[in-house]
Amino acid sequence: MCGIVGYIGRREATPVLIQGLKRLEYRGYDSFGIATVGSALEVYKKTGRISDGEAGAASLRGSTGIGHTRWATHGEPNDINAHPHMDCRGRIAVVHNGVIENYSELKRQLQERGHIFRSETDTEVIVHLIEEHYDGDLLTAVNATLPYLRGSYAILAIAADTQRIVAARDASPLVLGIGDSEIFAASDMTPLLEYTERVIYLEDGDVADITPDRLDIYHGGRRVERPIELISWCVEDTRKGGFDHYMLKEIFEQPQSFYETIRAGIDDNVRQMIMGADEITLVACGTSYHTTLIFKYLAESLCNISVRAEMGSEFKYFVPPLRGLVIAVTQSGETADTIAALKMAKARNCSTLAITNVQGSTVTRVADSTLLMRAGPEIGVAATKSYTAQLAALMQIVNLRCERAFDDVLSHAHLAIGDVLLYDVRDAVALCSKADHAFFVGRGAFYPVAMEGALKMKEISYVHAEGYAAGELKHGPFALLTPETPVVAICTPGPTYSVMASNIKEMKARRAPVIALGVDGDKELAEIVDIFIPIPNTHLLVQVLTASVVLQLLAYHTACVLQRDVDKPRNLAKSVTVE
Ligand code: F6R
Repeated sequence: MCGIVGYIGRREATPVLIQGLKRLEYRGYDSFGIATVGSALEVYKKTGRISDGEAGAASLRGSTGIGHTRWATHGEPNDINAHPHMDCRGRIAVVHNGVIENYSELKRQLQERGHIFRSETDTEVIVHLIEEHYDGDLLTAVNATLPYLRGSYAILAIAADTQRIVAARDASPLVLGIGDSEIFAASDMTPLLEYTERVIYLEDGDVADITPDRLDIYHGGRRVERPIELISWCVEDTRKGGFDHYMLKEIFEQPQSFYETIRAGIDDNVRQMIMGADEITLVACGTSYHTTLIFKYLAESLCNISVRAEMGSEFKYFVPPLRGLVIAVTQSGETADTIAALKMAKARNCSTLAITNVQGSTVTRVADSTLLMRAGPEIGVAATKSYTAQLAALMQIVNLRCERAFDDVLSHAHLAIGDVLLYDVRDAVALCSKADHAFFVGRGAFYPVAMEGALKMKEISYVHAEGYAAGELKHGPFALLTPETPVVAICTPGPTYSVMASNIKEMKARRAPVIALGVDGDKELAEIVDIFIPIPNTHLLVQVLTASVVLQLLAYHTACVLQRDVDKPRNLAKSVTVE
């Protein structure tokens, strides 16, 4: 949550910072701010979106600067709580991503020593602590500050009388981009793609002293070397490419991202981990958690492996017995709860695997091995192509454990995804966009698909939607069924077909309008429901994918009809880096 960006070099910093913040805006968009050092230290910060307020920042001069886009944790979104934060004398500015857990205690102590606080944020303690230690040497002052901080941070600090940025990271991501006589810093690589493909991922505990021509990284007080790595994404991947929204573009990229993830395969090391595991536990949050539930259904029913799927946010509090292989599934690679769960698994001597879309992300540093999805940058806050790419990675694991029984299915699945992209879901959209509440139901692997459909619907359209196991609806939620409560039911051939059809009839008897996803040509189902959406009559693995994509389209078009901010839904951020 929150995005930070820094620039030092020969250009004017402000345009680089503004552009970088726009690229990071998906990490938080309550407010933004920048600070530059030219002839003086200047700060501009504002509530709201960058595109609405950037003109106000245009006058900031200097070729050293830092910026921040905020997802509020401590203190409501307003101009004062926006970053950067400054010391009492206006000589130092700091941006911060993370949470300082002991900030109240530090704030009280600093106030007792005469510091005047302006904001309600946890971050402000950092800049006051730096101020206490600052005598013209910013690196020393930051180093002296860090031992006081408990929690997580990626920090960029600048001071009025020096052309340098001091960066520090602990449990929040920070990557440096290396240009020619210029260096960039950012929470993730997307702001860097425009300028360089050479990056350094800072490690937890690193402190970097950055000037245009020199970069020194320290760890535990000693100078260290960190490797320069090449980024595989390019800047075109981050553009909308003629689509109205990133989300729609990303929905349409799914045949390719699924195919690329399958094509990349699984390396020998990861293969051995998977083949050698008696038990597999997966940890994830949100949409990624739904892919782990789908995996559980598929792996247990198709290849008889014992699988546990756990929410990262719950996992670390109930300390379950753990053995075998633990897989963290996280698009961003930065979700704090998922990473905390993975660390717990490591501490219990489990072997650990990360499935992520982001090269160099924190999870790749924690896990023993990584299986990288090939979805490319996902900018829309709602996960779409990263979800199906996760399924591509997880379905390959199922395939491996089923003696590659699904090679053919997986190598053609992207074609079926392509077939549903242009589906006309207008009738279903008309029904959902008038509703205050909706249910999404399925059985077996389609239950988590329904949960995901409901999550997509609620997060971008704000229509309240519940994902339910179809058979559970009559154990309570039936009380909520009315002619104004659409039920989206996934009902495809297989062992659950007839019971699903009975469930649908029960819902119809309560006068709920039913939108059914069934296979092409299923006249019987089409006759009993209000709206029938046919998906290709293919293998179960492919139906999971096509049904998911149709539900993404349903949520997307409903959100558009309701004129929602599809790519930046209210209150959300793409990388949830706080627990
Ligand atoms: C919903 C969505 C979130 C994420 C969740 C985990 O569309 O994107 O629910 O899936 O925040 O994020 P990652 O996968 O980055 O760990």
